[in-house]
Formats: sequence, C-alpha cells, structure tokens
Amino acid sequence: MEYSRKITDPVCGKFVITIDGPAGAGKTTVSKELSKRLDYKYVDTGALYRGIALAADLQNVAPEDDAGLERLCNSIELKFVSTDNGQRLLLNHSDITDKIRTPKISMLASAVSARAVVRTHLLDLQRKMGREKGAVFEGRDMGTVVFPDAEIKFFLDASQDKRALRRYEEIKTKTSQSYKDVKQDMQKRDKNDSTRELAPLKSAEDAVVIDSTDFTVDKVVELMLSHIENIKKTNK
Ligand code: DC
Repeated sequence: MEYSRKITDPVCGKFVITIDGPAGAGKTTVSKELSKRLDYKYVDTGALYRGIALAADLQNVAPEDDAGLERLCNSIELKFVSTDNGQRLLLNHSDITDKIRTPKISMLASAVSARAVVRTHLLDLQRKMGREKGAVFEGRDMGTVVFPDAEIKFFLDASQDKRALRRYEEIKTKTSQSYKDVKQDMQKRDKNDSTRELAPLKSAEDAVVIDSTDFTVDKVVELMLSHIENIKKTNK
C-alpha cells in the first residue's frame, strides 16, 4: 500500500473518503461499517442514480430522452434522511429506499447513468454533500471525477463469480431471479458501467485497490482503517 499521500486541507481533521468499484464488490456493507467506525456520514451515490431511474420510469421518460431527463432532473428532489429505520432516500418527500432495489431499476439506473444530463446534475448534488467532509462516498466515479482531490481513495473489487453470488444471496428472498440471471445482469451492468464514455468505472490512479474476493467485511474494514491511520501519521 502507498502511504506517502500528502493531505493539505482536512476540515476539522476530517476527510472525504471515496470507495469505488463494480456491483457486488461489497462497497455498501464496507462503506456503512467504515462510516460507523469513523463517525462519518455515508453517501450511497448509486442510490441517487437509482432514484432518477425510478422517477424516469414513473414518468415514462426513456433513458435515451436527454431533454426529458433534463426536465425530470430539474423537477425532482432527491434527499437522504436519517431515521430509526436507518438512512432512507426520499424522492419529493416520498420514501423510495426499497422501490429502487429491483432488477428493473438496476438496469435502468445503469442506462440513465450513461447520460451527460444526469451525470452533470448529480455531480453538483454530490459535491455539495461533500463540502463538510467527514463522509464516505460510495460509487463508480467518486475518486476519478466527483472528488479527484479526496484525501483517501479506495477501489474495491472481487471476482465476478463472488460478486454475483453475494448479490444473489442479498436479493434471493425478494426476487425470483436465479443465480444465473443475477450473474448475467451483473455482466451487462459491468459492461455498461465500465465502457461508457462518461466517467466510466475505473480505479483512480491514487486509489488503494483491495480485492475482497477472499476477505470478510471486517478484514476489508480493518485494512482500510489501517491505511487511514497510516495516512494520518505521515501527515502529522
Ligand atoms: O451502486 P449501484 O449498483 O446502486 O449503482 C446503480 C447504477 O448507477 C450503476 O449501474 C452505475 C451507476 N452509478 C454511476 O454511474 N456512478 C456512481 N457514482 C454510482 C452509480
């Protein structure tokens, strides 16, 4: 691991931490645990793309209709709120946290995320959320595009079989998709997300890459915490 990164501008000693990687690499579980351990805010940026996908679906806006998507983005409000039931995502005050986790919305989110109007709209929103620092941002382009100056960057990966298996275990009680369907959808999304022109999924050059194929969540979080500690020490 590389510990020589120089940190120049932490607000109140807090950082922006970015965690990028493909679907099923374990980003969500790890990001939530890391933010809890650090007492940081957690921002799931994939949920924002899913929120726009759901709104587009409800209003019959096709993912290729840029003018329609732009109107949609300018007319909706997406907001995270903390509740006794954990963090929830609101679309115009309506709780959509569970509605955005369907296979249909996963594929639609991947499609709308390739459109410039959608990315520009969310870029602004995400940067506003990062202003106060003390946050873990999970996504695909957090370290490369949204927060290129983030003090701490991780890229979390795992083998495709392991990622598909994890995703299948996660959703098997909620959908009728077989393991094979889940794996096929994941391959399609991987291809869309990493070959699109705008902000494709890739590791930032200065990110620490962790392959979680054979690691538990705890092990990954420990590795991240020890990297963060080392960065803090070298910058004292
Ligand atoms: O992380 P997720 O599976 O919930 O993300 C849903 C889709 O949103 C994913 O297919 C790619 C897109 N996405 C993106 O393009 N950029 C991000 N920062 C986060 C997600």
